[in-house]
Amino acid sequence: MTGQQDNSHDRAIVPGMIGIITGAASGIGEGIAIKFLQMGCSVLAVDMNAEALERFQERHINAGSRLSCATADVTDETNPAKLFALCRERLGEPNFLVNNAGLGSAKAALETSDETWHRYIDINLGSVFRMSRQAVLEMKNGGAVVNLASVWGMVGFRGTAPYSAAKAGVIGLTRQMAADYSRQGVRFNAVSPGFIATPATFERIKSNRWLVGAMVDQAPLGRTGTPADIAEAVYFLASGAASFITGVILPVDGGWTATHYAPDLEEQAV
Ligand SMILES: NC(=O)c1ccc[n+]([C@@H]2O[C@H](COP(=O)([O-])OP(=O)(O)OC[C@H]3O[C@@H](n4cnc5c(N)ncnc54)[C@H](O)[C@@H]3O)[C@@H](O)[C@H]2O)c1
Repeated sequence: MTGQQDNSHDRAIVPGMIGIITGAASGIGEGIAIKFLQMGCSVLAVDMNAEALERFQERHINAGSRLSCATADVTDETNPAKLFALCRERLGEPNFLVNNAGLGSAKAALETSDETWHRYIDINLGSVFRMSRQAVLEMKNGGAVVNLASVWGMVGFRGTAPYSAAKAGVIGLTRQMAADYSRQGVRFNAVSPGFIATPATFERIKSNRWLVGAMVDQAPLGRTGTPADIAEAVYFLASGAASFITGVILPVDGGWTATHYAPDLEEQAV
């Protein structure tokens, strides 16, 4: 503050933000869309899976004209400009973007071909770069971008080379864009989910005891996360309540990255 009256609390009230959520037809993306719609926002829901997006639209028909859907692959370089134009035309001036679309699960480096490497980097990092760059061009009146990173981009984990590298890139890009563009009024933050129950992970939660041991038993809160857990953090970072926050990577992971949790410590002690 430089002696003016402090009006920062006013910015916490942002009536009906307008913007884009990628990968919205499923899992975490759908959870985020539900939260933004519940808060009165207008949402352009983007997904490359046309059938899943149609079913998504049917599930959320009650949102009426505040929900619009667009089938698009975010790795297509021509799509960022088209999607922002569509958002403006159907819903109004965009002031938030959630880069959620991503491809999970991967293998260690020796089991990863060049083709697979490029695919993971393009979907998980290249698309985030291109959509974010477009957001800066479009959000002339300010706005917020929230990226979906991963705890596997924050610490080393086994068997996820191209995915982890891409998500570490998302973390670096988020901080870098925050440094370059926050003064233009566009804030950049990321949420870094731990192990979340979604269609991408249901099978592994049921059948991969090793993974559940590593991700759930070794987290202080001792459960998988839900799309709603992630959506709360994404909405907060996009909203005016976070108007003094930029360049932050927020783990929403049950405490997994903050600790080296030993699940049977009490038993060991006796
Ligand atoms: N589920 C987890 O445990 C977890 C953990 C950490 C990070 N994340 C991240 O959260 C995000 C969502 O994960 P999820 O588990 O909900 O995945 P999901 O597979 O259930 O949903 C991803 C959605 O993105 C869409 N999508 C994928 N590539 C796309 C593209 N090129 N263009 C447009 N749409 C595309 C898919 O069709 C799908 O609907 C991803 O970025 C993922 O890496 C998930």
